[in-house]
Amino acid sequence: MLADLNEFQIAGCPVRVGGSSPEALQQLLLSQFMGNSPVYVLTDSNTRKHCYPVLQRHVPALSEAICLEAEAGEQNKTLQTCERIWMQMAESGGNRNSLLINLGGGVITDLGGFAASVFHRGMPFINIPTTLMAMVDASLGGKTGVDLHGLKNQIGLFANPAAILVWPGFLDTLPEREILSGAAEICKHALIADAGMWDKIVKGSKEPLLWKEYILPAIKIKTGIVSSDPLEQGSRRLLNFGHTLGHAIETWSLRNDAIPLTHGEAVAAGMVCETRISAQIAGLPAEDRRFGHYPMNEDAIASIARLSVYDKKNRNGKHLLSLLRSVGQAADGIPCEPRLIAESLRFYASYTQSFFY
Ligand SMILES: NC(=O)c1ccc[n+]([C@@H]2O[C@H](COP(=O)([O-])OP(=O)(O)OC[C@H]3O[C@@H](n4cnc5c(N)ncnc54)[C@H](O)[C@@H]3O)[C@@H](O)[C@H]2O)c1
Repeated sequence: MLADLNEFQIAGCPVRVGGSSPEALQQLLLSQFMGNSPVYVLTDSNTRKHCYPVLQRHVPALSEAICLEAEAGEQNKTLQTCERIWMQMAESGGNRNSLLINLGGGVITDLGGFAASVFHRGMPFINIPTTLMAMVDASLGGKTGVDLHGLKNQIGLFANPAAILVWPGFLDTLPEREILSGAAEICKHALIADAGMWDKIVKGSKEPLLWKEYILPAIKIKTGIVSSDPLEQGSRRLLNFGHTLGHAIETWSLRNDAIPLTHGEAVAAGMVCETRISAQIAGLPAEDRRFGHYPMNEDAIASIARLSVYDKKNRNGKHLLSLLRSVGQAADGIPCEPRLIAESLRFYASYTQSFFY
């Protein structure tokens, strides 16, 4: 898909994008992690099947690695899954000098990063994202953690991986729904930081896998923002646009739907609501029609509004949102009355319905 290699840095952590990343892992293991033992590769059931064999083929240094497998899906981003990982590491001699390679989507990079960071008070880990979501967002920036009874990312810490290797070849097996899910975060990156890129998304090709036009710029935006504020004291909060309501909608869906929304689908709905709260930027087609409509009745709207209180940006029981001042320019910490939250959900429920039905 791509021959050239791009390199970025986040707080001293190298991010190698493209090129021949599986081979890059071989070099990295030989040059920096020769003495680390055991080496673990954390997969979920899908990445074990589709991605682990690729690594095994290209990275002979992993011949002795121990493969750990979590169940796929957000429902498994829990302390219980961490406990199983910690037990397997404890029983196989894992220690502070081991290495964990997280091979998967955002669930695996969030979960594995957290599991590695607290096991024996911290062992090094490497992220190898295999979904579009993880390539442009989740694997970058050192936020690790798990959900608490479906409440998103309530437990976790900032911990940077030793390296991040992004190899687009893994996208070949990713289902279309997951590609669109990652595209939501590409839209968000453009909306908060790059009006030109948003313009391209609106007017240009709707193919989210266009590497040069969308994926690489999205990685640049995320690494740039995170590098300037690694611990989310200020500007990094802008990346939360769409997430206060997105996380609440995702939690609601996880608790109520047999097939829950993906993270990106929930964030897409959250962006529509938060665009509404951002004083309805004229002519902004923030809701990509392909994300579809998520129906919400009044009970759901009331519950989702209550769930939004758990957002980590809130202070003293007050909603503080990251919102758009204009396309390409976001602002954080804007106080928002609860009635506007509920009203934006009602707006989403009726407005997007008119597109799809
Ligand atoms: N830490 C952060 O900064 C950050 C940022 C954004 C999102 N996140 C988190 O990321 C998570 C969502 O990530 P996601 O969308 O990658 O979900 P995911 O990890 O659940 O992956 C989506 C699905 O794709 C499958 N899959 C992964 N790679 C595959 C491949 N190459 N081929 C076939 N199937 C594959 C997975 O098994 C899963 O079923 C959420 O928990 C979200 O909170 C974290």
